[in-house]
Amino acid sequence: MRGSITWWLLVTLTVLVSMALASKDYYKILDVPRDAQKAQIKRHFKKLSRVYHPDKNSGDEAASQKFMEIANAYEVLMDDEKRSIYDRYGEEGLKNGGGGGHGFGGGGDPFDIFSHFFGGGHGHRQAQEKRGPDIAIPLEVTLEDLYNGAVIEVDVSKQVLCDHCHGSGARRPEDIHTCNTCDGRGMVIKRAQVAPGMFQQFQQQCQACDGKGKITEHLCPSCSGHKVRRGNENYSIHIERGMNDAQKIILDEEADEYPDTIPGNVIFVTRTAPHPVFERRGNNLYTKQHITLIEALAGFKKTMTQLDNSIIELEREGVTQYGFVQTIKGQGMPLQENHSRHGDLFVEYQVIFPTEVDSETIEYLKKGSTFAPDNGPKLVHQEL
Ligand SMILES: *[C@@H]1O[C@H](CO)[C@@H](O)[C@H](O)[C@H]1NC(C)=O
Ligand SMILES: *[C@@H]1O[C@H](CO)[C@@H](O)[C@H](O)[C@H]1NC(C)=O
Ligand SMILES: [Zn+2]
Ligand SMILES: [Zn+2]
Repeated sequence: MRGSITWWLLVTLTVLVSMALASKDYYKILDVPRDAQKAQIKRHFKKLSRVYHPDKNSGDEAASQKFMEIANAYEVLMDDEKRSIYDRYGEEGLKNGGGGGHGFGGGGDPFDIFSHFFGGGHGHRQAQEKRGPDIAIPLEVTLEDLYNGAVIEVDVSKQVLCDHCHGSGARRPEDIHTCNTCDGRGMVIKRAQVAPGMFQQFQQQCQACDGKGKITEHLCPSCSGHKVRRGNENYSIHIERGMNDAQKIILDEEADEYPDTIPGNVIFVTRTAPHPVFERRGNNLYTKQHITLIEALAGFKKTMTQLDNSIIELEREGVTQYGFVQTIKGQGMPLQENHSRHGDLFVEYQVIFPTEVDSETIEYLKKGSTFAPDNGPKLVHQEL
């Protein structure tokens, strides 16, 4: 029995190796090591898809091909079952519907048998990772951006893992060995004689490996073993219509990268630049309009330009008092939850008085009915 399993394993592994060589290397496509955890795979996928996404490369056949390749590799490596089939049988195994064509008789999933041999998958995928700190970045937006929606390109400088060693600091994965001095524990037990015939045991950090439990034989030539470098990443931030000031836009796990750590989030916080015409309060817009004395007295028709360059009609009949506020329904900001609904626009009128009036006009006005100082109630001053 034992012998036959060994033989069977050998044959299978040989088949495996030849198949894996023939097919596409999903790990290379996503630029991750073979023992990469899901978080790392996800990060690399996101990074690559930002570059190759069809949205950014319309009409570019090569980019679209590459994107499909990346997406396919990602789908397989994020699925424990598919990944383990791929690891063992390569791309071919996935095409054959999960290795069913390999002739395992006698019932039972062949991968169950494998996982017994290899101790339940690779083990590394379940490992818990630490989480790095979030970073908040103010994002200056205009009122036009918030009214119309916008895509803002931001170049974020941050710490990234070394591309060459993926943060291991070693030239190759094989260059990392378990420390012999401490057997990988990072601690050694020391015995000291405290009195004749009396010994005390105590633990000490292993000096051979600095308590890491591992020794790197050859450092990564790219980062000299530092594991990280300064890098940058370009993000396209989508500003949704009606977004608020100080609103948070969260990019999952995009903050500084550290070895064996899930990056924190990058949090963009919108900050609205002051606008020369409009002021926003909630979903409403406020503005001031100047009118001449004649317009204040006789009424007017005017236009002003909305934040999307459409035209707003302003119309008044009769007298408009200084400081009068006209409400224009539906000309405020679009609502974030429903873009076809808007707040209101409040227009405050400020009357520009003439700097001087000639005496003839004054005489005329004094003679003429309603403006004369002692001519009854029609001379209505604004009651403040
Ligand atoms: C980000 O964009 C800038 C210019 O907009 C460019 O110089 C830089 O190479 C880009 N960085 C990446 C990582 O694509
Ligand atoms: C959005 O508002 C419009 C106009 O008030 C309404 O007809 C529509 O049903 C709303 N849509 C949603 C999803 O609430
Ligand atoms: Zn490196
Ligand atoms: Zn050690």
